[in-house]
Formats: sequence, C-alpha cells, structure tokens
Amino acid sequence: MEIIIKNSPEEASVLAARVIAKLVREKPNAVLGLATGSTPVRLYQELIRMHKEDGLSFREVRCFNLDEYVALPETHEQSYHYFMQQQLFAHIDVQAKNTLVPDGMAKDIPAHCADFEEQIKACGGIDIQVLGIGSDGHIAFNEPSSSFASRTRIKTLTEQTIEDNARFFEGDETQVPTHCITMGIGTIMEAKMNILLAFGEGKAEAIRETCEGPVSAMVPASILQHHQVAKIFLDDGASSKLKLKDYYEWVYKGKPEWQQDQ
Ligand code: GLP
Repeated sequence: MEIIIKNSPEEASVLAARVIAKLVREKPNAVLGLATGSTPVRLYQELIRMHKEDGLSFREVRCFNLDEYVALPETHEQSYHYFMQQQLFAHIDVQAKNTLVPDGMAKDIPAHCADFEEQIKACGGIDIQVLGIGSDGHIAFNEPSSSFASRTRIKTLTEQTIEDNARFFEGDETQVPTHCITMGIGTIMEAKMNILLAFGEGKAEAIRETCEGPVSAMVPASILQHHQVAKIFLDDGASSKLKLKDYYEWVYKGKPEWQQDQ
C-alpha cells in the first residue's frame, strides 16, 4: 500500500488524476474502473479539465462502474448512471458504447452480473480501479462480511450505508434503495492498480482499519493490503487516525520526482 497524504481533497484528487492521465496517454484504450459518491467528484473535475485544456482524450478508453442501485431507473437523479453522466461522461470524449454501469433495472440480475464480468475480461481486465470508501469500510457496495472472493452480484445495503446515503435522497432513508448490484471484492482485486480516495474525519476510522488494522472481511477495504499496487490518497482529516502518518509523509517526501505520477 502506498499512502499519500495531502493537505486538501483538491490536492489529493489532482495527484490521483495525474496517475490516471499518465496511463491514458500511454495506453489510449486503457480500461478504467470508476466510482461514484461525493469523494471522486474532484478527481473527475480534474480529468475534465485535462481533457478540455490539455487535450487528454478518452476516445478509446473503456469504463466500468463499480455499482448501481437496484430498481432505480437510469433517469433518476440519484442513480449512478445519472451521476456518471453529470459528473464525467458528458464532459469528456468517451464513447457511450464504452461506458458500462451495472444495470439496476436488469430483469435477470445474475445473468447481467455474469455478463458484466465477461465484458471486463474481454477488455483484458481493469487497468486502474478508482475507489471510495464507506464509513463502515465498504468498497463499491461490498458491505462488511462480503467474501474476498466475491464477484459482481446483488447485495443488500447495511442500515449504516442507507443512513449515510440518505443525504442524497432528501435525507429520507425510506427513499434509499435497499439493494444494489456491485462488483465483487475478487473483481476489484484483479484490477492492475487500485486508487482509493478518502477525505474528511468521517472516514478516519475506516482508513485506520483499512491501512493499519488486520485484514478482515469486517473491513472490506482492508483486503487492499494484499493488492500489489494500491494507492491510498488522503487529506489531513481522513489520515488523522493513522499511527504511522509521519512515516507515510516521510516516504512520500523522499519519492524521486520520476515516480510522482506513477
Ligand atoms: C457509496 C458507494 C461507494 C462509495 C461510498 C462513499 O456507498 N457505493 O462506492 O465509496 O458511497 O461515498 P462518499 O464518497 O460520498 O463518502
């Protein structure tokens, strides 16, 4: 795990965007795994800026999203389809046929999930997977106790996640869907690189457990300790409970310049 701590979410997001941009420049048909939630919004804004101002093209890039609510139509403002259109896809030159968000309205959910996995394989696997983290340590919608071997499937949200996400549904928990389709932890672990972003003190405990706690299905993100290339981008708040915070900062300061966007 590489733990990168910046003063602000903006600075951390810009750095993460540079890692993605470097890949896309080197491999124009890169395969990106994308996340929703409030955390990656600044990262997407920086990618949009790079597209508009620096000519970064996503024309051949293929995108797979981590998750989607079940039974929420694409047109619903809180669907992850809608989010991705608003926050990224509509502002870059990615082709619609190359953006795949799980279909929460699929009639045959298991068949849809199997097909989703097949499509990732057919593209040669995900090069960089972007992740946020839930306050209970979940990644995508893999809630505590999810199997580390899990694949794309239907899941039930925890009450904690429903409570956390109610802010997007006018604060009304009863409007939050109870089920979702999510990439599995096994799927996420097959990405060649994982980039997890976490900002604010509300994520500090989950980050402490993820980076410094035991690897446990109770904290799904902790499996990233076993990933070969996992970069954890944090701000001051999210890193505030890390025991080795000074060490991570020391390591980052000593990074040779050529390694900065790798
Ligand atoms: C949802 C998403 C996750 C995301 C999490 C955190 O549960 N399924 O992918 O990481 O929310 O959201 P936020 O970034 O808004 O804190």
